[in-house]
Formats: sequence, C-alpha cells, structure tokens
Amino acid sequence: MPLDLSPDRKSLQARARELARGPVAARAAEVDRTEQYPWDNVNLLKEAGLLGMTIPTPYGGQGRAWLDAVLVIEALSAACSVTGRIAVETNMGAISAVMAYGSEDQKRMAADMVLAGDKPAICITEPEAGSDASGMTTRADRRGNRFVVNGKKHWITGGGVSRLHLIFAKVYDEQGNEEGVGGFLAIRDETPGLSIVKREPTMGLRGIPEAEIAFEDMELPPSALVMPPRGLNKGFADLMNAYNSQRVGAATVALGIADGAYRLALDWSERREQFGRPINEFQGLQWKLADMSIRLAAARALVYGAARSGDGGFPDMLLAAQAKVFTSENAIAIVNDALQVFGARGYSRNLPLERMARDVRMFTIGGGTAEVLRNVVAGALLGKKLPQTRDGWAKAADERP
Ligand code: FAD
Ligand code: COA
Repeated sequence: MPLDLSPDRKSLQARARELARGPVAARAAEVDRTEQYPWDNVNLLKEAGLLGMTIPTPYGGQGRAWLDAVLVIEALSAACSVTGRIAVETNMGAISAVMAYGSEDQKRMAADMVLAGDKPAICITEPEAGSDASGMTTRADRRGNRFVVNGKKHWITGGGVSRLHLIFAKVYDEQGNEEGVGGFLAIRDETPGLSIVKREPTMGLRGIPEAEIAFEDMELPPSALVMPPRGLNKGFADLMNAYNSQRVGAATVALGIADGAYRLALDWSERREQFGRPINEFQGLQWKLADMSIRLAAARALVYGAARSGDGGFPDMLLAAQAKVFTSENAIAIVNDALQVFGARGYSRNLPLERMARDVRMFTIGGGTAEVLRNVVAGALLGKKLPQTRDGWAKAADERP
C-alpha cells in the first residue's frame, strides 16, 4: 500500500475491507458452489456506494479516480473474486467507455442502469476473433435510418444477467462498404434480436456467467451508436483506449486474490506446528513467504501506477499491459505457493485456496492474453508494429534491413 493514501482513500478502503471480510467472505464458497450470480452482494455494493464510483457526479456517480476503484476491487477480490469482478465492470470497461464517448442520453441511461445494480456486458470476442479482435465479423449494416446487426460473440462476462450491452461490430454503408468498427448499446430483453445462446462451464469465477450471445437482424436506431467507426479517434481505437481501464481492473482482481491467499498462508504458517515448532520457523517456508510478499509489492506498485496514469482520462496502454502481465502471472504463482503452505488442507474444498487457484488462473487469458500484452509492451517500447500482427507481416521481405 502506498504511504500517501489520503484519509478519504483510507476510509474508502476500510469500508470495502469491512464488507469483504464480513458478508462477502461469508458467501464466497456458496457463490462458487451454486454458480449463481450474487445479487445480494450487488445490493451490498450499491448500499455502500461502491457501484459506479467512477461515474461523474452530474450523472449520479462520485467522479472517483481509477485508484479509488482499484482499492475497492482489491479488497473485495481478496474475499470473493466474483464480487471483485462486479466492481470492475460497474466502474471500468463498458461503463467508462460510454461515459467518455457517449451522448448525453446514452450517458444518463448507462449511469442510471449501473447505479441501480446492472453490470454492463462488453461484447468484443468472437469464436474466430479472440486476440485478433479487429478481425471481428459481427456486422452492423446501415439500412435507412437504422442499423441491422448480425453476428455472434462468445465468452461475454455477465451474458444472461447483464441488461446493458456494449457491442462492437464492423459497420457497413448502404453500398456494403466497410467503415470500421463501431460500438453500440443494446438492452437484453428490450432489444429484439439479441439472444443468449449458451453458458460456458468454467474452471473458476463460477458466480458470473460467461455466455455466447447471438444477434439476428437486431435493429438499432442511430441513437444506439456510442463509438462511431469514423469518429474523432475511430471506433476501434476508442474501444481499446477505454479497455485499458478494464485491463487495470482485471490485474487488480488477480492482485486481490493473491493478497487474500498470501494472508491466509501467513496466518496458517504461524498456527501450524510440525516437528515441534511453527512451520514458519523453517527457512524453506520463510523464503516462500518472503518471495510472495515481494511479488505482491511489485504487482501492487505496477497496478496502482497504471491506475494513476489514467487520472483525467484512461490508463496508459503500456502501463496497463505491463501491470496485467506481471500481476496475472505472479498472482498464479502466489496462490499456488499459498496453497502449498497449507499442505493437504490447501487441496481441500473446505478451504478457499483451491477456489482461489481456479479463479486466478483466468487472468493471463481474459482481457488480452499475457502473450498478446507482451506484444503490446514490445510494440510500445520499439515504437513500431511487430510481425506478430497481421499488418506487421505485410512488410515485404525486401523492405527489411
Ligand atoms: P486466441 O486468440 O485463440 O489465442 C490462443 C493462444 O494463442 C493464446 O495463448 C494467445 O496468447 C496466443 N496468441 C494469439 N495471438 C498471438 C500473437 N499475435 N502473439 C503471440 N501469441 C498469440 N471477451 C469479451 O469480449 N467480453 C468479455 O466480457 C470477456 N470475458 C471473458 C471472461 C473470461 C473468464 C475469459 C476466459 C475470456 C473472456 N473474454 C471476453 C474473451 C477474452 O478476451 C479472450 O479469451 C482473449 O482475448 C483471447 O482470445 P482467445 O481465447 O480466442 O484466444
Ligand atoms: N490502448 C489505446 N489504443 C490502442 C490499444 C490500447 N490498448 N490497442 C490498440 N490501440 C489502437 C492503436 O493505436 C491503433 O490506433 P490507430 O488506428 O489510430 O493507429 C488501433 O487501436 C488499432 O490497433 P492495432 O494494434 O493496429 O490493431 P490490430 O488490428 O493489430 O489488433 C489488438 C491488435 C489491439 C486487437 C491486440 O493487440 C489486442 O489487444 N488483442 C486483445 C483483445 C482483447 O483485449 N480482448 C478483450 C476482450 S474482453
């Protein structure tokens, strides 16, 4: 934790920790076992003012910084990663994209929905377009005074529980010419043509559905278009710019899970005795605990730094990618070590370690894989597009030095 947290931030963090260590922790195992979305935790977050904190005050939010959201997400995720993810998606990602790029009406509608407890869904990934997100084939055809959307998205977090959807599609003009990627708002159960196809059976994070969503002749008015393909910054670049906030959020959930597991291991290492002494008197475990704390401190510094880089805008692309790669990979290692400290008990479903190990595994994949984010880091460092991407390959061999 940085030493310069303001009294307001300390009090926000304390509020989130109290909630996390009380009612949220008490229900975490049940949320995992039943695979039910924790609506009662959503209500707790709402009552505590932890939903939509980053929404500007004119729209009913608190206009808080990314770091405020990060402190809350970290605290919640140490107890229940599903609840931590709900805090991510009600403060970052889709909602922040709408608040940055939307019209007055769109901002009011999205803010009202989130503050009432809706976790918006962000729909980018498709069966044939994962890392290669700009290769998406979902299309929005201009037809007179409306768009007609057809296509399919998968692995959409909240599919089936979220109402507000921010959907990315390639826009085509009346003549069938591609204009680029645009972002549209649609509401489940109110927008005909949007249907939830199936839920994925996931390894962890089981309290939030990951779903396949289909759009069949889904008609949208021009007022549904949030991020036009040829807007100020172009729709796809706007999407990725806003998405840097969600990458910081994902890194924060991984950080929180790792922190929770580390604290459990630290406590157990003092209470468990073998060979007539607490197991933390063995140097083998002391070094493990020391390494865990070093990794945590480094991850926390990266995550907080990336969050701070977004003050007044969105987090920096390079810092967000660095934070997510380092934190996701080290969080997996920390949780694994924490489980080891518990011996056989760590492998039991009676303790949260095995759940944490399943939950934390996701974060090198969702929100941009560790490999693709390394490409982003290398591209930013070298100042050029790399051959790992489609356009990078296009450079002819005889043009290379
Ligand atoms: P692929 O792109 O097929 O990659 C397969 C492997 O190839 C990976 O190891 C990858 O790193 C590697 N690879 C691919 N390209 C390169 C390259 N150029 N260089 C080096 N290695 C490469 N998507 C949404 O739109 N909305 C959501 O809400 C959402 N939530 C998710 C929640 C969960 C739990 C998960 C697991 C995923 C979620 N996703 C979501 C999808 C996620 O963003 C994608 O899974 C991710 O972008 C990777 O795409 P892919 O799974 O198709 O893997
Ligand atoms: N932040 C800000 N801008 C970004 C960005 C980011 N993280 N990633 C890309 N952009 C911008 C680029 O600067 C470029 O802008 P320009 O057209 O003004 O030059 C534009 O978006 C296209 O980026 P580019 O790298 O040329 O795209 P690409 O077709 O090679 O695709 C990505 C590569 C961006 C799709 C890939 O790096 C990536 O991030 N894949 C993971 C997708 C993901 O996170 N999905 C999560 C779904 S939940």
